[in-house]
Amino acid sequence: MSMAAPPSSVTPVSTNETSGAGPTPQEKEATSRQLLRLQDHAAGFFAVWTLDLGLRHRLFEVLSKHPEGLSAEFLARELDLDRLYVTVWCNAAYSAEYVEYKEGKFYLAEGLKAPLLEPDSPVYFGGTAVFLGALRSTWSFLHEHLSDGENSWWDQFPPELPAAQADSSRTFYTRLLRKGFARVPGLLERLSGTTPVTFVELACGRGSGLVRMAQAFPNVKFQGIEGDEKSLKAAKEAVERAGLSSRVTLGQAVLERGPVPAADIVLLNIALHEAQDKEAVVRNAAKALRPKGTLLVSEFPFPDWGEIEKLRTPAGRVMAGVQYLEGVLGDQLLPSIQFESFLRKAGLREVTSAELAPIHVLVWGTK
Ligand SMILES: C[S@@+](CC[C@H](N)C(=O)[O-])C[C@H]1O[C@@H](n2cnc3c(N)ncnc32)[C@H](O)[C@@H]1O
Repeated sequence: MSMAAPPSSVTPVSTNETSGAGPTPQEKEATSRQLLRLQDHAAGFFAVWTLDLGLRHRLFEVLSKHPEGLSAEFLARELDLDRLYVTVWCNAAYSAEYVEYKEGKFYLAEGLKAPLLEPDSPVYFGGTAVFLGALRSTWSFLHEHLSDGENSWWDQFPPELPAAQADSSRTFYTRLLRKGFARVPGLLERLSGTTPVTFVELACGRGSGLVRMAQAFPNVKFQGIEGDEKSLKAAKEAVERAGLSSRVTLGQAVLERGPVPAADIVLLNIALHEAQDKEAVVRNAAKALRPKGTLLVSEFPFPDWGEIEKLRTPAGRVMAGVQYLEGVLGDQLLPSIQFESFLRKAGLREVTSAELAPIHVLVWGTK
């Protein structure tokens, strides 16, 4: 087999360097630019840990309750935390612009209350921040298995990871409830009408979405299916806590094997990409739909190769990072057109997709 020619975009080795004359001004400028970028990434790394600590140890929450500001010492005392550690955190939080500083006191910066402290807000980001912190076990796993490619699964992860994942997916459900369902013709009318409707959520995780959807649509019967036993247990507890056990039932199943209970609406929220056989999962879901039923696939829209530059947008950078966890799970996020093609192959009609956020697409089809 002949070797492929190297890509023409490869930068040639500088003649200055080979002749010992040192880097050219152009190379020096490129190095300075890269150094700034490297520093920026390092700062971002610390900024993420600062978010994680501040959320998990309630530093942001306490600051938000003190609009008059708090000194690091008072903040530490209020939370019964170490004074030096809290001072370090306050300075890091100031450097990341999460807090402001005036006359010895720190204040939560303007515009951060909803993203950090209001889980049902459409701009909630706190779950994602803690999820990034919880990914620490994924990095250790990757270090160990980068050469042998071994995978892991949800039932093997430390409990903090599925819990943080559930918190990070809250915003996906919020977007579905606030604007996603409204994009699908006739869906809200069916969910809010008096004709009995059965809604099945496949791979419902810890049930946080099921609970919120059941609260939003009190006439609808919900069924959740989940493959991971621990997540299913957490889902059952969440449903019981919300007093919804009579209207929300749960069961354990591997989605590829089915069968899916008969339904008018089937939803997969950021879950189809994880299935080992996505076509089989969509086929089972489509088979379970009653006539005129709708399959909803809520997903990350990972850029296709032809639009790889989108990976350099903030949403693209986050998805490129999530892809590490997907790799560990033995799957990958996919472009929207692939999800659309699974639905068409399963015989669904009027397959359509709508971007709900740069990081969120809703794909649907009708039986
Ligand atoms: C990223 S989580 C999303 C959970 C939930 N939908 C949410 O948004 O919070 C993916 C879920 O899919 C489940 N899952 C993945 N593959 C599955 C399969 N083949 N059969 C059943 N469940 C599966 C996992 O256990 C996990 O709970």
